[in-house]
Amino acid sequence: MPFPAQLNIQSSRLAMRTVEEGDLPDLLAVNGDDAVTQYLPYASWQSLDDGRAWLVRMQKLAASGSSLQLVLVEKATGRRIGTCLLFRLDEGSARAELGYVLGRAHWGKGLMFEALSAVLAQAFSDGFVGSGALRRLEAEVNPANTASCRLLERLGFQPEGLLRQRWHVKGLVYDTRFYGLLRDEARGAAAP
Ligand SMILES: CC(C)(COP(=O)(O)OP(=O)(O)OC[C@H]1O[C@@H](n2cnc3c(N)ncnc32)[C@H](O)[C@@H]1OP(=O)(O)O)[C@@H](O)C(=O)NCCC(=O)NCCS
Repeated sequence: MPFPAQLNIQSSRLAMRTVEEGDLPDLLAVNGDDAVTQYLPYASWQSLDDGRAWLVRMQKLAASGSSLQLVLVEKATGRRIGTCLLFRLDEGSARAELGYVLGRAHWGKGLMFEALSAVLAQAFSDGFVGSGALRRLEAEVNPANTASCRLLERLGFQPEGLLRQRWHVKGLVYDTRFYGLLRDEARGAAAP
C-alpha cells in the first residue's frame, strides 16, 4: 500500500500538490534562506542545480511509494511558498514521518497549520495508502525550533521523548524531540 503518486489537496488559502520541476525557482527562494534551513538537516540551496538534485532524490523516493513530496501553492498569487513531505512509510505498521518548510516571508500567518491540517485529514482517511489509512504519523524536531514544536502541538501531536545527541549536522550535535500523532486523536481534534 504505497503512497499515491499524485495528490491535490485544497485549503482556504493554499493548494497542495505533488512537486514538479517548474516549482524549483520559487523553492530556491524558500530553501536558499539560511533562516529557513537553520534547523533542517541540509545546507541552504545555492542554485537551481541544488534544487534539481533534490527533485531527483524526491522523485526516486516517490517512485518507490515510500514518500510523497507536496508543494504549497499560495492561491492568491500562484507562488510556491513551501513544501510538505510524508516519508519513511512503513506499510506494515501504517506509519510515516512528516516534514515541512515554509518561506520566511510567510511565517506566523497560520499557513503551515492550515496546510498540515488538510494534509493530515487526507493522510488519516480511508484509502490513502492502498485500501487502508495511516495509523500514526511521527516528527522529529530540534527543541530550539519553537515554531515547529508549537505547530505540532497545536495539530495534536504528543511529545513522546527526547532523543539525545541524535543528529550531527552542520558541525553541531543536537537532541531531537520525538512527536507522534495517532489517527484516532487526529480525527477527534477540532476541524482546521
Ligand atoms: C515551522 C514553520 C513551518 C511554522 O510555520 P508557520 O506557518 O509560521 O506556523 P503557523 O503560523 O501555522 O503557527 C503554528 C504555531 O506556531 C507558533 N509559531 C509560529 N512561529 C513561531 C515562532 N517563531 N516562535 C514561536 N512560536 C511560533 C504560532 O504562534 C502557532 O501557535 P499558536 O496557534 O499557539 O499561536 C516555519 O517556521 C518554518 O518553515 N520554519 C523553517 C523550517 C522548519 O524549521 N521546518 C520544521 C523542521 S522540524
